[in-house]
Amino acid sequence: MAEQRLAFDLHCHSNFSDGLPSIPAMEEWCRKNRAGLAITDHNEIRGSVLMAERDNVPNLPAIEVGTTEGLEFLVYFPTVSQLEEYYRRAVEPHLYSRFMVKSRVRCLECLDVARELGAFVSLAHPFAFGRKSIGKKLAAAASKDHANQVLDQVDAIEVFNAGIPGISNRYAADFYQGIEKIATLGSDAHMLSDLGNAGITMLGGSSCRGPKLFEQLRGDDFEPQAELTYSSLLRTVAVIAWKHTSFFVLSRDRYHASNRHAVPANQIG
Ligand SMILES: [Fe+2]
Repeated sequence: MAEQRLAFDLHCHSNFSDGLPSIPAMEEWCRKNRAGLAITDHNEIRGSVLMAERDNVPNLPAIEVGTTEGLEFLVYFPTVSQLEEYYRRAVEPHLYSRFMVKSRVRCLECLDVARELGAFVSLAHPFAFGRKSIGKKLAAAASKDHANQVLDQVDAIEVFNAGIPGISNRYAADFYQGIEKIATLGSDAHMLSDLGNAGITMLGGSSCRGPKLFEQLRGDDFEPQAELTYSSLLRTVAVIAWKHTSFFVLSRDRYHASNRHAVPANQIG
């Protein structure tokens, strides 16, 4: 019998960063949809680590790293311990207390550590607005060489992100034709209703876990999801604005202390 294909969302946010869904709610979504996911919270790994440790659904330890240059990277690992070491070395020392997304880490530094620790790295939404766009950096004489160095160091680019305007994805798809990289897709969901709007399919059923999933990702042994849907931009902007304002006002430690991260006992397992 042919092995079951698993839908897998490579880019989403939990309530540990600027998303709304709790870990049990995301697990429930995975069960209902026979899917898996990588929680890629902004400069934050607690949600991803918790999901891996609970081990209820297919998942990959991951993070979305925001850099001082503005570019963001989706960094995936086969194991939690590798993700934790990456966070300790490349992310935690560079955090701002009042900004969730950006940090002081330089692109090439966080990519060096990722490579050393055996990560798979995809450049997130490469043609999103402003400083997040590698397109802008490639077009400017002052930043072109650096942008090309960054491109050399990533394994993949995110060619479809369901949380940004279509025109940015069309630029990314055109750009992708001219480079030799792996193409990843993700929903960038901040709400449960947007999970799975974009992603990939891999081999493996509901028992498939980190190393086997990671092997397929790194080996480009997966397919893009057939149906892609854009997320609700207005609702997403409202959620992000609320979460980032809270983070700024409270600052990092108080934001996490006040956020409802605790997993209720009746939702364990
Ligand atoms: Fe994201």
